[in-house]
Amino acid sequence: MNKIVVIGSINVDLVFISDIRPKAGETVLGEDFRTVAGGKGANQAVAASKLGADVVMIGCVGDDSNGEFSLNNFKSLNVNTSCITKIQDTPTGVANIIVADNDNSIIVVSGANYKLDKALIDRYKKEILEADLVMLQLEIPMSTVEYAINYCHENNIKTILNPAPAVKLSKELIERATYITPNEHECKIILGEDINADIKDILRRYPNKLIITMGEKGVMYFDGSDIVTVPSYKVEVVDTTGAGDTFNGAFARAMVNDYNLKDAVDFANKAASKSVTKLGAQAGMPYIEEM
Ligand code: RIB
Repeated sequence: MNKIVVIGSINVDLVFISDIRPKAGETVLGEDFRTVAGGKGANQAVAASKLGADVVMIGCVGDDSNGEFSLNNFKSLNVNTSCITKIQDTPTGVANIIVADNDNSIIVVSGANYKLDKALIDRYKKEILEADLVMLQLEIPMSTVEYAINYCHENNIKTILNPAPAVKLSKELIERATYITPNEHECKIILGEDINADIKDILRRYPNKLIITMGEKGVMYFDGSDIVTVPSYKVEVVDTTGAGDTFNGAFARAMVNDYNLKDAVDFANKAASKSVTKLGAQAGMPYIEEM
């Protein structure tokens, strides 16, 4: 058991490194600039692949140089690109990322990612049926996410839904996804909870399903009897972009290798901590030998 299918976004990240985050109407001089591979789906696929999983990516790129750049990046990192569709006359997704004050601000323009529709899921059903686990995020149409998770649920294929960027999820989607992995802020949005709601009360309603990442405070879930907190690893932070994606990719890799939930979360925490020590979403993602 080692096969993961990722259904999700593929972006090219334009990363601006600055000492100061510009306010509205302000121009600031930055320190550095990089063009790197990104997109939550792509990042999670790469994270799992670097950790030794057999990964197939289902997604869309445009018919432009960014699309070629993304495909070459996948190939160099051993991610299977046979289910990536090139969409004519449409740009590949891009993300503008400002890294300042040990944190990032991101604007994503979806481009080809929003062409990933139900018909493409139908086209790749064979690959989905062969998967031990399917992983999704929310940078593709919600109708596609719901359709794919329904299909996996009907066929007893485990899913991880990383609900980012966060929007309120339907009751059915929450029920049918095997694991849902929001951060603390996303958690309340996806469940339609009040901002002041108690995280532990929320967790108790979704045993062994809702896994909340809380940065340096670690990760929490409810195991059916107790709230479990798995501590994070302390490291020197260079860039947190892609830390959540590394967590998800590594969590998927651990689950298809039959780790129990606690050990899988610890493995994912460790991988995520390593990922923030380098600039760019994918550069710091560890290979299995580094774990
Ligand atoms: O999670 C980080 C990712 O979010 C970036 O790579 C960017 O492309 C956006 O999708």
